[in-house]
Amino acid sequence: MFKSRPARSLAASNLASGEYLQVAGFERREVARSGASTSDRVFKSRPARSLAASNLASNAHRAFDASFYTRRRRRRTMGTLDNTTALITGASSGIGEATAHALAERGANVALVARRREALEAVAKKLESEYDAAAIVVDGDVRERSTSEAAVEAVVDRFGGLDIVVANAGVGRGSDVETMTDEEYFTMQETNVDGTFFLTRAALPHLKERAGTLVVVGSFAGEFPRSFNPVYAATKWWARGFAHGVAAQVGDEGVAVSVVNPSEVRTEFGSEDGDPFEERFEPGTVTEPSEVAEAIAFAATREGSSAQEIDLYRRDKFAESF
Ligand SMILES: NC(=O)c1ccc[n+]([C@@H]2O[C@H](COP(=O)([O-])OP(=O)(O)OC[C@H]3O[C@@H](n4cnc5c(N)ncnc54)[C@H](OP(=O)(O)O)[C@@H]3O)[C@@H](O)[C@H]2O)c1
Repeated sequence: MFKSRPARSLAASNLASGEYLQVAGFERREVARSGASTSDRVFKSRPARSLAASNLASNAHRAFDASFYTRRRRRRTMGTLDNTTALITGASSGIGEATAHALAERGANVALVARRREALEAVAKKLESEYDAAAIVVDGDVRERSTSEAAVEAVVDRFGGLDIVVANAGVGRGSDVETMTDEEYFTMQETNVDGTFFLTRAALPHLKERAGTLVVVGSFAGEFPRSFNPVYAATKWWARGFAHGVAAQVGDEGVAVSVVNPSEVRTEFGSEDGDPFEERFEPGTVTEPSEVAEAIAFAATREGSSAQEIDLYRRDKFAESF
């Protein structure tokens, strides 16, 4: 599958070389650039152990050394995100844009990732004027591993670390399996699945350093079998399964992982196959992006978060289906 992919886009290859990276931010607050604290080093230097020993040891570790809570508490107090940095993919519209507002409003520095550079710059300007936020813009395609790697590197260079990652970029194409084209299939698979993996892989070492939070945007479609677009649904089942597995893998190193599952949200979603959802649904009939963003902000501001999964379904969702 990888071999048959088209050559990387010009934007993506330029991004990899750093040409298109743009800092559109403004100094608002002191950004910690210091290296790992003593407690961070304690975490990193834990030796490899057998699974049983590791589980026992990690529980014991939690009992007497809550250093990951301390690391988080240094940056997140009273539900604010002062002195934290968040990276959001799909930040040029919809849920990602609303999330950038919700996190910047709470004090976070933000990195905005998507393909449409002008749209990202417009979002960055709004964040600066409305919240005095520091924002950087990284345009690129999340289907390319270089996009996530360059974005994470840019964030760490600029802000000194990474506390919150929102894997939000995602698309739906077509529906019927029998008539689905290869392009529709690969577009969903590469964006929703590969993109989430590349981002998570690049971000995890930094989230461990900061006892950070990974939020994956799933979907109602990834929780219940339904007839509409099985391939899109499967990418969201994958995203949820991946997120919970990552939680199991790094939860004892202080990293919180949350999945947020909306049903219909009034965004640009669906525009390739007809009217975007923001036009297809009247205000008040389904979820607004700001509500999803508030759920993501809830997960991002928890100390020692146990928000594993947050569902946001329109009120009559089950009345229609069952
Ligand atoms: N709207 C819904 O009803 C709904 C329901 C459940 C879950 N979701 C999920 O919510 C997430 C956000 O969607 P949305 O509703 O906010 O739709 P949206 O307004 O269409 O936003 C999608 C975002 O993803 C970005 N994106 C798409 N392909 C990309 C790529 N290859 N590389 C980089 N960025 C890419 C888009 O930016 P560029 O075009 O600028 O690249 C855009 O910022 C998706 O994962 C979607 O599956 C949506």
